[in-house]
Amino acid sequence: MAHFPARVFSGVQPTGNLHLGNYLGAIVKFVELQRTHECIYCVVDLHAITLPQKPAELKASIREVTAAFIAAGIDPRAHIVFNQSQVAEHAELAWVFNCVARIGWLNRMTQFKEKAGKDKENASVGLYAYPCLMAADILVYRATHVPVGEDQKQHLELSRDIAQKFNLDFSESIAACGHGDAFFPLPEPLIQGPATRVMSLRDGSKKMSKSDPSDYSRINLSDDAETIAQKVRKAKTDPEPLPSEVEGLARRPEAENLVGIFAALNGETKQGVLKSFGGAQFSAFKSAFVDLAVAKLGPIGNEMKRLNADPAYIDNVLRDGADRARGIAQKNMAAVKDILGFVR
Ligand code: TYM
Repeated sequence: MAHFPARVFSGVQPTGNLHLGNYLGAIVKFVELQRTHECIYCVVDLHAITLPQKPAELKASIREVTAAFIAAGIDPRAHIVFNQSQVAEHAELAWVFNCVARIGWLNRMTQFKEKAGKDKENASVGLYAYPCLMAADILVYRATHVPVGEDQKQHLELSRDIAQKFNLDFSESIAACGHGDAFFPLPEPLIQGPATRVMSLRDGSKKMSKSDPSDYSRINLSDDAETIAQKVRKAKTDPEPLPSEVEGLARRPEAENLVGIFAALNGETKQGVLKSFGGAQFSAFKSAFVDLAVAKLGPIGNEMKRLNADPAYIDNVLRDGADRARGIAQKNMAAVKDILGFVR
């Protein structure tokens, strides 16, 4: 198969508060990958409108996610940070992919089933076709690596299926247009580390999510030290002390979750955490947890506040990022049009 230069792409929806799950599952990795890869990070506002959004809140949220990226350590000059709706090629390639993907493939998507709920007939067509837009986000840059949390794994597999079917369906034209045996890379999900699926602080069997009605279920990146401390104190645990070995976390979802979060925040493994805290009561562990969480998240929250007070700066970052993203996307989209046989 053709060789594609390494390029990282990922996206975050601007739909309400960013939480510890988004941070540890995705944003921390975004920051790390900057050292080794060319990276494109996108605030996916077109995805946000697959569910109802209030325009003023959406706008604030787009700026807030951008502020969080920068506050967490993403460099928007060395890499690309932008919002999706400013680069029309995402929607354009998504249409092509609507015609490549099969209805049967989309019918298997568990996230659609969760988000549409019982009343599927009343869900938007956009929510159903969402994974095709996601594939377009990645492939319009011919990105090769995609850092995400565990919950996006199925969507990433679909992106690979779409890339592969496009490469096969149009193989002759791809070769005739001078692209060898494949136009799109098969993007590789990067789902690694101790916190790829951060669970609710109130219920270790549920994912930490923006849509949970209880704010105590999650730590938001904008929470202050006192709020973080309160949420950790109230976090559900079990009556046993912490085990000394990772195997001892089996069937203890709340303990496993807190140990995983601690490990990710501290840049170590779960086993490393248990080496320090095996045998400890939760009260002692929670107090170290609060200190660590406040030390790591406090500066990010403060920087987000500072950046949020300067929307003109944020908007400039997004416009500049979009200009550079568009340069790449337009070139690839023109090639796709040639491959498809469109006149341009
Ligand atoms: P979104 O906005 O729901 O979440 C953004 C990122 O955060 C991760 N994440 C979590 N990781 C661990 N534990 C959790 N509890 C948790 N909750 C969220 C998500 O896995 C994600 O990496 N469809 C995507 C956005 C998207 C995208 C893309 C991602 C659109 N186009 C192209 C990658 C590439 C989404 O809704 O993520």
